[in-house]
Amino acid sequence: MQNDFQTISVGTIPNYTVTIAPGLLEQCGQLLQRVIPPCKAAVITDTNVAPLYLERTKASLENAGFSVCSFPFPAGEQSKNLNTLSQILEFLAQNQLTRTDCVAALGGGVTGDMAGLAAALYLRGIRYVQLPTSLLAAVDSSVGGKTAVDLSAGKNLAGAFLQPAAVLCDTSCLSTLPPLFFADGAAEAIKTGVLFDKELFTAFQEGLVRPGSEPLPRVIARCVACKAGVVERDEKEQGERKLLNLGHTVGHAIEKCSGFTVPHGHAVGIGMAVIARAAETLGWAKEPLAGCISACLASNDLPTGTAFSPEELAEAALSDKKRSGDTITLVVPERIGHCVLKKLPVAELRSVIRAGMEG
Ligand code: GLY
Repeated sequence: MQNDFQTISVGTIPNYTVTIAPGLLEQCGQLLQRVIPPCKAAVITDTNVAPLYLERTKASLENAGFSVCSFPFPAGEQSKNLNTLSQILEFLAQNQLTRTDCVAALGGGVTGDMAGLAAALYLRGIRYVQLPTSLLAAVDSSVGGKTAVDLSAGKNLAGAFLQPAAVLCDTSCLSTLPPLFFADGAAEAIKTGVLFDKELFTAFQEGLVRPGSEPLPRVIARCVACKAGVVERDEKEQGERKLLNLGHTVGHAIEKCSGFTVPHGHAVGIGMAVIARAAETLGWAKEPLAGCISACLASNDLPTGTAFSPEELAEAALSDKKRSGDTITLVVPERIGHCVLKKLPVAELRSVIRAGMEG
């Protein structure tokens, strides 16, 4: 195996491979034809990514025998809704895709989630592949088969589980990411460190992970390997997979309260800082960790606080999927590299958030 070419197998049924290497978009047709015989491929992308990567993706697919149509939607979380989803479904139908054809999600988290959901719904399910171009999609959202759109009541409230047929992560796309987008993905990778891997966390603490830096492909591979293990054991989030929602209860609330102007990773970073402070204040943490989580986020250009009040955030969080009747499951860090699930009465959420903001 070449040093800069890494593959991770995700052992779901069916299983698939995540390939991480520079220059993969130029080879995507050749690599995909090993898992999907050449067919019609609908490339779903956004207006930021299309000018950068659509042509080379299309050319590679066409050279490998795929016939390609493409649908670019306006970039941004504001597009991740039923209206854009319906346009994508109509586009698939107008282009007469059949069950032997496929969807390719070329872009970041919004594109992957929405194209994946369109693939899950169209003709009751067709194959799709993930071609992540953002760090957030590379380390988290392109793997694991969660697909969704937002509803006005909250984030990702309409969705389905559908594993992709393959994930091709072209690391060259990450070298030119604007700093805000790089930081957004770093938050999800730092989350993986807090959950499972102190060494990964330390790499971010020490400022080793930067656009184009030497450890970046290994960091992505480590995040994907951690996530793959969880998804293999609990694909449909009945238990262990809930851990991957660290920072997301408050994070989703911040996204919602801000009208989705705070990017997902930034919101999750703030959510992690809040729950870490709460864990320390309420005696749930087994070591002092809030200070180093906040410092790590800040040194990776991420915010650690919000102007929204605990009341506003608690109210927004109550429409979250992590609520179940009168209880909500929070992901609580005990040590760097180890977190637990804590079920709480919904009525206690506000005081936990307050402890995390004032503690
Ligand atoms: N992003 C959390 C998950 O895939 O479960």
